[in-house]
Formats: sequence, structure tokens, C-alpha cells
Amino acid sequence: MPDKFFITTPIYYVNDIPHIGHAYTSIATDFIARFKRMSGIDTIFLTGTDEHGQKIQKAAEKNSVEPLSLCNKNSAKFLELTEVLNLSNDDFIRTTEKRHVDGAKSLWNKLMDNGDIYLDNYKGWYSVSDETFYNEKDLIKKNDNTFKTITGGPVEWIEEESYFFKLSKYSDQLLKLYDENPDFILPKSRRNEVISFVKGGLRDLSISRNTFDWGIKVPNDQKHIMYVWLDALSSYPNSLGYISNNKSKLSSYWSNTVHIIGKDILRHHAVYWPAFLLSAKLELPKRIFAHGWWTNEGNKISKSLGNTIDPIEIIDQFGLDQIRYFLLREITFGSDGDFSIEALKSRINADLSNDLGNLCQRSLTMIVKHCNSVVPNSKNINDSEKIFLSKIANDLPNLSLLVDNQDINNYIKKIWDVISEANKYFNDQKPWELKDSNKKLFNNVLFVTADIIKQIAIMINPIMPETSEKILNFFYMSEDHISIDLLNKDISNSKITDIKPLFPRVE
Ligand code: MSP
Repeated sequence: MPDKFFITTPIYYVNDIPHIGHAYTSIATDFIARFKRMSGIDTIFLTGTDEHGQKIQKAAEKNSVEPLSLCNKNSAKFLELTEVLNLSNDDFIRTTEKRHVDGAKSLWNKLMDNGDIYLDNYKGWYSVSDETFYNEKDLIKKNDNTFKTITGGPVEWIEEESYFFKLSKYSDQLLKLYDENPDFILPKSRRNEVISFVKGGLRDLSISRNTFDWGIKVPNDQKHIMYVWLDALSSYPNSLGYISNNKSKLSSYWSNTVHIIGKDILRHHAVYWPAFLLSAKLELPKRIFAHGWWTNEGNKISKSLGNTIDPIEIIDQFGLDQIRYFLLREITFGSDGDFSIEALKSRINADLSNDLGNLCQRSLTMIVKHCNSVVPNSKNINDSEKIFLSKIANDLPNLSLLVDNQDINNYIKKIWDVISEANKYFNDQKPWELKDSNKKLFNNVLFVTADIIKQIAIMINPIMPETSEKILNFFYMSEDHISIDLLNKDISNSKITDIKPLFPRVE
């Protein structure tokens, strides 16, 4: 297994403030980064903001401010969100930073040197909200004979001089890439979509605009601004210094890269991006994983409907780990899902308060009350208890595989199976009936339960880092770095603190 790993979120547009969709992509990426680190893999997790192009320029005009001041203001909101969400990102890149601008220009020059860029005229449809060029056949005709994109956004007809990238030249190489690397694009359904898009015929891609000026100037032709997607995609390797200087010590991470994105930006990542990299003779990422979209109480989330969800507000109301858990548990990563307050409350009460919270509360409180706050020792555990306590460690290869396939939901289900089993064990053993009659058995039940709780606390770290730390702190395990090696740490005879409830029920 490679010992270096690079994982990215998309870099977010700064035309507006963050919403739940951004929070979702970031939390899912954080989950994977944390699991990898905990498994001993040297990991870099990147997020950041996408600050150039017409969409940002128009938003700045609407707000009567300079584009850079809008970027500074909104990028700071995305940076603040990394704190609010407790993300473990190692870097936050802004496309207005010099290190990025230099890298984007270097990529342009590589495509140019390879003979893949030519000057021509672009005539066709453009969506500013998606920053994407569309063929008419991919648009929907409205009753008034105008067109819209499949997501409902407006398009405008543009005719201007433009540089083009020879995308069509890469069709066969792309199809070969998908064929030889069946897991390059996941989930499978998305992979099939991309393959049929490429098989449908690729046209060369317009990669510059010259009717506005907010962006990176094309090297050697200052009239043109680089197409914002070419600019933005290069931010990933730019953060490692890979394009400008592939000898950078960070560039060794690039060969094991996973991009986590939403399904709406798959074509840019799975078609344009590998084609640019092939042309530039740079290595390709290992995986593009496209997740689904959330609706709000059954409705499409949109600013015009006024139903966007502010992640900061919802976290204030329900708690960060509750929201992290809900977003990761409620839907299969890769599928669409619905955000409803009823579903959120029911997850908090059933999975968190009842299953996990009560397990910790009632068992550990018994240790505080009846064992002088010292975890009993493990001398008397029987074979079936031994099997139970080694279950997580034995299942680690499967859990790792789930994370490697971005199957976050099934990882969580497996951990909750252990929580259910622990609750069943505790209920069946009825320690409250043993405390006076059979102290030896009583102590044994409390040891087994405490040990499995410690293991659960480690395994939920990628999902709910704060809760994980709170539980480990009950055992005075305040580690700087949570590692799966702690699964085997013997907690017999160790002190525990007074136990505080983890998840208040919500009405
Ligand atoms: N700037 C581009 C990405 C460039 S990456 C080189 C961009 N930015 S974005 O801010 O519009 O979106 C970022 C992410 O938010 C996407 O992955 C998108 O799928 C996600 N979401 C936006 N709305 C969403 C939902 N309603 N539900 C889930 N995720 C959604 O695209």
C-alpha cells in the first residue's frame, strides 16, 4: 500500500457564502483523511476557494465591490467553515494566490508546448453559473424557445476569439484509461455516464475568454483570460508545488490522489482534467469519486426557492458531531438524499443518544460508582468475550477497504453493529444484578464493556472527532494523534473520570 495519500475537496466558488452542499463534500473528505491518518498513512488533505471567472466578476458587480474584495470576504467564510466543521485539512488554497497563478500558467505552457492549444473563434452556448460550455443537444428548450441547462440555469450565446484545447485528440486515450482502470471513476453508474459522454464524441474545448478580465492572463496573450476550470483544476497539484516544480518534496503525494466531488462537476474532473494532465505529461489522479446531491425536505435546494441550509446555523442548533454523523450516515455516499429535520432528530435520538450515549453512560457510571473509578482487570474474560473484543481489529482490512472504496455509509453501519452488540451484551449480562452477588463476574462485564467502548471511540474518530476525544478522555487517553494501534491498549486498572452525557435527546 502506498504510504502517501492526497485527498481533495473541490475548491469552492466565492460568489456566495457556504451552504450545506459544501459542508457535505468537506465532511466526507475529512472522514477519509482522518481514517487514513489514523491507519498510519501520511496524508495531505486539501480544500480551498475558486476565485476567478465571470461568475465571480458578475457577483462582485452586483454587490458593487471589486472582485478581489468579494473573494477576500467570502473565501474567509469558507476558511472559517473549516474550523466550524472541525476539518483536518492541511492546506487551504486560493486561486488568487501567487503559488496557484504560477502553477496554472505553467500548466498552460505545457499544453502549448505539446502543440495542444490553437487560436480560433468560439460560437456557442455558455452557462455562467456552471462556468461551462454546452452543445445545444445537451440543453433543454423552454416554452419561449430559449434554452436552459439540465439543472435549470440560464445559458447565453457567446461569440468570441478563443484559444482551444485539442480535447478530441484524447478520446481514445481517455476511453483506454477508463477501461484499464475500472475504479478511476466511482460510483460505477457515474463511470458509465462519462464513458457514454466520451463515446458520443468530444469536441475541442474553449479554454480562454476575452470579454471580461477577472482571471489569470494567458501567457503571451494578455487579451485572454484562462478558462476558469483549467485555472481551478490546476489548484490541486499546485498546492503540492507539482506543476511548477515536480521535484518539490510534496510532489510524491500526487501519485496517490483521490478527488472527492459532487456529481455536477464530474465531466470537468473525469474528462477535461485527465486530458489536460495527459497532454502535460503529468501523472493522473487515482480516483474521482462523485457524490450525490441533497434536497431539503424533498425540494431541490436553490437560492431562488429560499431553502438553502446554512451549515453554521444547523450546527448551532443541533451540534457539530450530530450533523457530521447525520450527513455521513443518512445516505449512501454517491447517492442523492433528503435533508429533513425529522430524520435528523430521529438519528440523533436513536443512534447517538440511545445506542452510543447510553452505552457509555450506564456502563462507565457503574465503574465510577462501584469500582472506585478504576476499570477492572481483564483476568476473567472468556473465549466468546475474547472473540468479541478482537472483532474490530480482525475486521480492519474490511473497514479499510470500505474507506478505500469511499463506502462511508457501510463503514458506519459496521461500527454501529458493534455498538448494538455491546448493548446486547451489557443487557444480557445484567451487571446491576451481579454487583453484590457476583463481584468477579460484575467486574468482568464492566471490563469488557469499557474496552469495547474504548475501541468504538477510536473507530468513530473520523466520523465524530470531538465525541471520540470526549470518550477517550473518560479513560484519560488524551492522545495528540489517534491511531488504530490504540485498539490494543490495555485499559485494565486504569482510572476513569466522572461521566458526562454525550448526546442530549432532541424533541
Ligand atoms: N468551483 C467549482 C469546483 C472547482 S474544483 C477544481 C464548484 N464549486 S461549487 O462551490 O459550486 O461546488 C462545490 C461542491 O458543492 C460540488 O462538489 C457540489 O456538488 C457541491 N454541492 C453544491 N450543492 C449541493 C447539494 N445540494 N448537495 C450536495 N452537494 C452539492 O463547483
